[in-house]
Amino acid sequence: MHRQALLLAILSASAMGSVPEWGQCGGLQFTGETDCATGFACVELNPYYSQCLAGTATTTVTTPTTTPTMVSTTSTIKSTSTTTHTTTTASSPPSATGFIKTSGMRFTLNGQQFVSVGSNAYWPALLGYSDAEIDQAFSDIAGSGATVCRAFNEVTSPQGVYFHLWTGSTATVNTGTDGLQRLDCLISSAKSHGIKFLIALSVTRLLHFLQPRTEPKARSKISCFGMTSAFIKSLNPNHLVAIGDEGFINDPIPHNFDFPYQGGGIGIDFEANLAVNTLDFGTFHDSWGESGNDIAWGQQWITDHAAFMTSANKPVIMEEFGLTFTGTQRANDYTTWYNTVISTGLTGDLLWQAGSVFNGTETPNDGYAIYPTDPVYTLLRQHAAALKARG
Ligand SMILES: *[C@@H]1O[C@H](CO)[C@@H](O)[C@H](O)[C@H]1NC(C)=O
Repeated sequence: MHRQALLLAILSASAMGSVPEWGQCGGLQFTGETDCATGFACVELNPYYSQCLAGTATTTVTTPTTTPTMVSTTSTIKSTSTTTHTTTTASSPPSATGFIKTSGMRFTLNGQQFVSVGSNAYWPALLGYSDAEIDQAFSDIAGSGATVCRAFNEVTSPQGVYFHLWTGSTATVNTGTDGLQRLDCLISSAKSHGIKFLIALSVTRLLHFLQPRTEPKARSKISCFGMTSAFIKSLNPNHLVAIGDEGFINDPIPHNFDFPYQGGGIGIDFEANLAVNTLDFGTFHDSWGESGNDIAWGQQWITDHAAFMTSANKPVIMEEFGLTFTGTQRANDYTTWYNTVISTGLTGDLLWQAGSVFNGTETPNDGYAIYPTDPVYTLLRQHAAALKARG
């Protein structure tokens, strides 16, 4: 009872206009307090986000026009372009400039379909490699027919190259030569090889967020995803936003309570998230296969996500998949998964992970690296061509 009384007190206080300077006061999906504290006005930055700002007499509140739904966010597909957005025309060829957009279940660039295929490549910027080595890495990756790489880097103690530092609840962005300036090199090199980047903004926070709780609150998680994605779009409406999560499905009973199908237990529902209007595309990771049944399990996992892609009519890509063992069976198994991507119509895929050889020295291998000499590199090239042909 005490707790309820306190909550009511807080709610009635906030109804008198208490959103502080910089606080959100409106936008699609937003259901919170819309009255700014005295001296501040609610200013619409874009349809997704209104904020309490000082120094203006005008109050512009964006009224939500849709039922609050659920979103998500921690990845953005970042165009490697830093130039002004070019006007798209149907006849202009895909190029290194322009922003990736969505069209139904596919991505587009400059009005033409953009096929998303490639790998993780977070290491080239992080390990002290020279510009020539970074360039070699992207040359090798582009040689496989790849169009997209995925990168991230954040740490909990500052050392070496890092972009993003979390200490307790404090976030610090490293803009120095061992920080975002390395990311600039990475993007610049990738751009020269025609590669787009998908950047995970905060892996640690997402993992923390996805931890099981004793009392899962799917709705509050989903609305938190929604607010975050709306905020990202308010800062940068040109880039696509996704959760970048594992893609857990909330359908436990027909799947014998197989963990990745028990998303509800940790407040995650791939289908519900994908329906959210500020979430541009979906991702899932194929790193949950059961021992002895990885390949068939992975095929079903791909097929299930492709079905959600179709019903939501939004792109869905598979990330973080790979096999560590060696031998002929390995190549056959990659082929099986690649064929499943093609046949289910899944939008695209990014394997874990690319590898390169710099003047005879191999880049680090966690067991999954695909060097240009690997038979899987040849498969990747065939798969990229097949995806581009399928469209
Ligand atoms: C390989 O060695 C040559 C000669 O030293 C050098 O010019 C080149 O940049 C090196 N390549 C890489 C990827 O480091």
